[in-house]
Amino acid sequence: MKVLIVGSGGREHALAWKIADSDLVSEVVVAPGNAGIEREPKCRLVSVSAEDIAGLKDLALSERIDLTVVGPEAPLVAGVTDLFEAAGLKVFGPSRAAALLEGSKVFTKRLMKKYGVPSAEFEVFDTFDSAVDYLMQSDGPTVVKADGLAAGKGVFVCNNREEALAALATIMKERAFGDAGNQVIVEECLVGEEASFIAFTDGKNALPLASSQDHKQIFDGDQGSMTGGMGAYSPAPVVTPEVHDRIMTQVMAPLIKAMEQEDRPYKGFLYAGLMISDGRPLVLEFNARMGDPEAQPLLFRMKTDPVPLMIAAAEGRLGGMTIEWEPEDAICVVMASGGYPGSYEKEKPIRGIEEAEKIDGVKVFHAGTARGANGFVTKGGRVLGVTGKGLGIAQAIEKTYQAVSRIGWENAHYRKDIGKKALHRSDGR
Ligand code: AMP
Ligand code: GLY
Repeated sequence: MKVLIVGSGGREHALAWKIADSDLVSEVVVAPGNAGIEREPKCRLVSVSAEDIAGLKDLALSERIDLTVVGPEAPLVAGVTDLFEAAGLKVFGPSRAAALLEGSKVFTKRLMKKYGVPSAEFEVFDTFDSAVDYLMQSDGPTVVKADGLAAGKGVFVCNNREEALAALATIMKERAFGDAGNQVIVEECLVGEEASFIAFTDGKNALPLASSQDHKQIFDGDQGSMTGGMGAYSPAPVVTPEVHDRIMTQVMAPLIKAMEQEDRPYKGFLYAGLMISDGRPLVLEFNARMGDPEAQPLLFRMKTDPVPLMIAAAEGRLGGMTIEWEPEDAICVVMASGGYPGSYEKEKPIRGIEEAEKIDGVKVFHAGTARGANGFVTKGGRVLGVTGKGLGIAQAIEKTYQAVSRIGWENAHYRKDIGKKALHRSDGR
């Protein structure tokens, strides 16, 4: 069969690599893809943008694609699944109505409240003045969030009222995120340890992947600006078997049921961003897709072929299916252009990728790279996802950072502490 993957980041490279490995798949077409994906066996790039959903549909029809897997949220929120299904094409990804779970935080907070899914206390405001009045009533830590899609930048964790007022002005006065900031949420600030929990869903059932953890801030020790994610590992020991069961019964199952009752049946990857607070899972956000960079370590240690699971999910028959995992832990260290998530320079020649991949159990997934005259050059903020596995998190960390040390370019930046929280929990296993 022929599979189309939509997107161009590290997540899509991991998806393309894993899907191309399936015996069921003869060819993987990736739109628009990246320079790393182009090198993978069975993979071919086509230059249609991930946001051109009509162009993607024409591509899928003319290429006679059997299954489409959508990486990023924007085409899902714009309705790519609906458009494809109306043309008789099979897609693994939620409809526009279901992707509102990521497209509108106000919708999702109200849904969670209505159906008793645990999350932070919150208020919604649609004018600057009403939100200011509310913020003047107290002065502790709060979280201010723009309602709509803001490429992960619309959330401000504020230590005090002054910071909250500044965040509010950024969203509602400066309109930094345009119409995505027409409404804001002011939310209780939760404490605990974060985890990502992702499942295949078919509208009724959730088949969970292994747990994982992202590292959202740019600097070590979770300092500095929010980014798309600077590294991830799987499994995440904060998700103990008891916490896993609570996530399934208190979050995933009721959420899927709620979406069904609201006439927005949810199929595709369902991603819950969670705060684990004294063993209790509280939802920070839902995403309508796989995480990036969580996809890299997750797919790297997944033994099962995901293609039959994606087809089963699209056809509403996931019940009874299972996933097997390699016994190793995996981590992904994101190497970024210096300056990211702010402005940065491009076209820097990258050295050492081949040397890094000579280490057994290491794979370098590309995100923002292009082919230059003498090899790969940088082309984006997040450039590479160096991913490695080992028996125990300590070995996975050691191997992966050894690979990272072989790679470089002018002004490359990466965090040195990916996986440290897992290492602490596992007593340095
Ligand atoms: P979100 O995009 O909603 O997941 O928010 C991005 C990041 O902001 C999360 O990964 C958390 O680090 C942080 N965050 C969001 N909501 C809260 C909250 N209510 N309390 C504490 N931190 C939060
Ligand atoms: N890694 C966080 C995300 O994909 O949203």
